[in-house]
Amino acid sequence: MSKSFDVIVIGGGPGGYIAAIRAAQLGLKTACIDDWSTLDGKPALGGTCTNVGCIPSKALLQSSEHYDHAVHSFAEHGIRVKGLGLDLAQMLARKEKVVAQNNDGIVFLFRKNKIESFHGRGSLVKGGAAGWEVRVSGKSEEILAAKHVIVATGSSPRALPGADFDHKLILDNAGALAIPEVPKRLGVIGAGVVGLELGSVWRRLGADVTILEALPDLLGAADEQIAKEASRAFAKQGLAIHTGVNITKVTARKSVTVEYTDSAGAVQSATFDKLIVAIGRVANTRGLNAEAVGLKLDARGCIEVDDECRTNLPNVWAIGDVVRGPMLAHKAEEEGVAVAERIAGRHGHVDFNTVPWVIYTAPEIAWVGKTEQQLKAAGVGFRAGTFPFMANGRARALGDTTGMVKILADASTDRILGVHIIGPMASELIAEAVVAMEFSASAEDIALICHAHPSLSEAVKEAALAVDKRALNL
Ligand code: FAD
Ligand code: NAI
Repeated sequence: MSKSFDVIVIGGGPGGYIAAIRAAQLGLKTACIDDWSTLDGKPALGGTCTNVGCIPSKALLQSSEHYDHAVHSFAEHGIRVKGLGLDLAQMLARKEKVVAQNNDGIVFLFRKNKIESFHGRGSLVKGGAAGWEVRVSGKSEEILAAKHVIVATGSSPRALPGADFDHKLILDNAGALAIPEVPKRLGVIGAGVVGLELGSVWRRLGADVTILEALPDLLGAADEQIAKEASRAFAKQGLAIHTGVNITKVTARKSVTVEYTDSAGAVQSATFDKLIVAIGRVANTRGLNAEAVGLKLDARGCIEVDDECRTNLPNVWAIGDVVRGPMLAHKAEEEGVAVAERIAGRHGHVDFNTVPWVIYTAPEIAWVGKTEQQLKAAGVGFRAGTFPFMANGRARALGDTTGMVKILADASTDRILGVHIIGPMASELIAEAVVAMEFSASAEDIALICHAHPSLSEAVKEAALAVDKRALNL
């Protein structure tokens, strides 16, 4: 007889493993099926995020930032380093260790919560009033039964038409995190989040980085003022970013040649030692048996869900990168928790208006809520307050004064509508803004809160004061 569960989660990334933990915490008998393997074939829970996404990219961003500081900033702090060198093999090994610690952490959490883990590919078999069957195809094949199925199968990198990933010269995000030697000339197609973060890593380690972006403007989703500041900072770091390009041909032999037309329509060609293609991601639905069981997909190939992550099939839910909305680990996690709550008969809630975005470049870029352009387009009256890190004591002590905090508040109620930060530790500072917006705070509320001195968070308070034109330190 097949093993039976209250909930089967297909996919062990941040959406799936968090959904499984919450379901188990709520007393539901839970299984999680995941097919990710290490190079030597062992299970590696955590999905894209843990294995080839958030965690390894942040490990390399940190290591490369230390190296960059040692090369460029230590002398100013009065620190002399002789014989400074780059041990890339050690840097990559450390990154792998950080990944493995996270893989092991999830195994521990599964054991602690009595979640049964299956290594293999899960596919839906049939549905009925009593529930679902899911086939696990791994080393052996097995059929599991459950009342509810949560599909959390994530996403995969999109290939550039005519330039398939060969994983030697044309790399996806996994390859871009494991280049064994710093390439002299690195090309990146796509100035999105992956392109900017991983382009920064290799630039700091000494590569000549050229990023080719199809859209006319960089960081189209960010507030324009912040995007302009970011462009200036990236240019200063030596990232050559060309926008408005149209890639016409990619030829990979010993090196990779990219032919394209530039924003003025002129024909251009560039040759690179490695090419990273980072032009977005596609939902993982292959192998789920979606068509046979009648699971509906939307026009973009994502699993179609309602606001509460219900698919068109009874008791089949879908969360994370495989459904609509931003492809972010924390969004996947929130959906996972909310679905587990709903299955347990409780109230699950995700506020999509306050999902923060962070780009871990230097300077970091983070935002939540609406941009100035969105408010103007919607005809919403607002007041803006900005405060530069140049005027913040902690930023000066850190030697990291690029950027600003910008707060947009409703012109009549003062309610905060958007917060945009570019600068040191923007990824941490944005949390205060998310909390404030969740509690419907006004700019004045933040302005009235005592912030520790000297701290970067004082720039948030000062930006809130600036909404009322009364910043103190400017
Ligand atoms: P995934 O993490 O993709 O996990 C899905 C899992 O399901 C995988 O293990 C997959 O192999 C498995 N699977 C697929 N099909 C099946 C099947 N049929 N049976 C069994 N298993 C299956 N987001 C952030 O919020 N912050 C960041 O800093 C960040 N950095 C990133 C950096 C990079 C380089 C990349 C590529 C992405 C980054 N992201 C980041 C995005 C983040 O990784 C994703 O949004 C997140 O992983 C989505 O989680 P998920 O659980 O939906 O899917
Ligand atoms: P992306 O959607 O962020 O950016 C892709 C870029 O490629 C866009 O600017 C797009 O205009 C451009 N592009 C598309 N086709 C092109 C073409 N033919 N030629 C040139 N440019 C082209 O996608 P990316 O960077 O691959 O990342 C995927 C997702 O992973 C992101 O959307 C994000 O959700 C997630 N992610 C999140 C991170 C974070 O939260 N810090 C870090 C990295 C990834």
